[in-house]
Amino acid sequence: MTKLSTVLLLLATPLAAHDTITTKLTWTREIQRIFIRRCLSCHQAGGPAPFLLSSWKEARPWAVAIREEVTSRRMPPVSHVKGFGEFRDDPALTQEEIQLITDWANGGAPEGDPRLESDELPRLWPSGTPPSGAPLKLAGELHIGEAQRLTGLQFGELAAGVSLQAILERPDGSIEPLAWIRDFRPQWSRPLVFLKPVEAPAGSRVRLLGPDGVTAVIFGEREPAP
Ligand code: HEC
Repeated sequence: MTKLSTVLLLLATPLAAHDTITTKLTWTREIQRIFIRRCLSCHQAGGPAPFLLSSWKEARPWAVAIREEVTSRRMPPVSHVKGFGEFRDDPALTQEEIQLITDWANGGAPEGDPRLESDELPRLWPSGTPPSGAPLKLAGELHIGEAQRLTGLQFGELAAGVSLQAILERPDGSIEPLAWIRDFRPQWSRPLVFLKPVEAPAGSRVRLLGPDGVTAVIFGEREPAP
């Protein structure tokens, strides 16, 4: 082996240990604002997550794990499937946010301009407020006698790991997806408040499609008399 190739080999090793930056996305420009909204309610000091993600220095070593957790939708640990029903203050990542985080992690997770790092922290993961209206127990199927406006759902009694769908069947045959719970995680469960109340005319049915014995609570308000 010549001297030169030995030198090159020695040089190559430390270089390879660092990721090459192949993306224009940076922590301070695109990524930290997503983390503030979606991750730091838990991954901050005093939060329920076991480590912090509130600065680039803290997040950088986790880049690969972060990519795995967000593309598999294990983080943030919500149980509803995004796109089946629409909810107020939905904590789940949008497809676009997942793409940005993934591209940033794949591109070497660069920092950007450290002067732009934000120290903003959201409130700790809130327990959430129940939907307005009267709670109605849902076990299998619920017949709506008088027209209601459905405002949301709660899944307090479900066991961990359960999956189910809640749908509304109207008397005219139309079907409306209300929520899809996949691999339920009880400790992170919050009430799901519908973005817009769902009209359930008299004679509608709310159905839970899932394992035997699953229950939920659906909230409804009577339609004001015409
Ligand atoms: C509701 C609280 C909460 C939110 C919000 C949250 N996490 Fe987590 N995270 C946890 C907890 C708790 C753990 C520890 C492992 C577990 O219990 O699943 C964890 C673990 C992780 C792990 C390590 C997984 C492993 O074991 O390899 C990563 C990476 C992660 N979170 C990234 C994120 C990212 C990125 C976000 C935002 C997009 C986020 N988390 C949002 C609570 C949260």
